[in-house]
Amino acid sequence: MKTTLFYFSGTGNSLKVARDLADELGDTQIIAIAGAIDRDINVTSECIGIIYPVYMFGMPLIVSRFIKKMKGGEDKYIFAIATCGGMAANALGQTYRECKRSGIKLSAGFIIPMPGNYTPLYEAIPADKQNALFEKEKKKIKNIVGIIRRKQSHPIEHNSRLTNWLFSGIYKLGSSQIRSADKNFWADEQCNSCGICVKVCPVRNIELISGKPKWLNRCEQCFACLQWCPQEAIQYKKSTIGRKRYRHPEVALDDLCVKSDF
Ligand SMILES: Cc1cc2nc3c(=O)[nH]c(=O)nc-3n(C[C@H](O)[C@H](O)[C@H](O)COP(=O)(O)O)c2cc1C
Repeated sequence: MKTTLFYFSGTGNSLKVARDLADELGDTQIIAIAGAIDRDINVTSECIGIIYPVYMFGMPLIVSRFIKKMKGGEDKYIFAIATCGGMAANALGQTYRECKRSGIKLSAGFIIPMPGNYTPLYEAIPADKQNALFEKEKKKIKNIVGIIRRKQSHPIEHNSRLTNWLFSGIYKLGSSQIRSADKNFWADEQCNSCGICVKVCPVRNIELISGKPKWLNRCEQCFACLQWCPQEAIQYKKSTIGRKRYRHPEVALDDLCVKSDF
């Protein structure tokens, strides 16, 4: 069965999930949503997966735009995987509704908890706790691969209705401010103008002006710039100063520097 996995990822969790799933499924192509979004998106594989990180209890804006642009999914088996740092709330319910609006049926939706990467609130969890989550991720992939191979319908995973209702308000408020929230990023005196932030930003939202990064207000809030800065010079407001950064240990910088391969 030919499968295409479309992913969005800032720190590698969602890309790693896509890779692990591809290893199990075989005959699978992995495509970066950020590299495909500016083109016509005509899907041809019989099985399509959409894999993304949960942002503010919902979907990254770029994934919503991707679903709106996707053509040819009406007669395909479509599933989604949301990676999250603790609570996905109803992110997959949102994916279900957005697919429906585009005439696509989301047949299955899975939540995979991974290490959190929202450094403004917390720092990277210790390696042993990360490894425990990676072990659980591998087990969950093994559980869901059979469902996907059989193109089976499976309930869209979510938290309780009350939780979803409470947190949907946060998404509505937060998502309306996401693109311009990059005004909170800044580079401290450790910045050596290496330009890795420019390279790793999946939506080309950063330019170096006089050797310092400038954010251009089309941010997706993936935090790749802050997490991958080798000098740890990029900060978000003041709370990220001195906090341990997070990147998936099996994903390299080059893996996330998006190429237009669609
Ligand atoms: C802006 C932002 C918002 C986030 N919001 C949530 C959230 O609401 N719930 C949650 O469980 N994790 C949240 N996270 C954590 C990520 O969903 C999680 O770490 C994810 O696996 C990162 O995937 P990636 O490495 O592919 O980018 C957030 C992360 C960021 C950067």
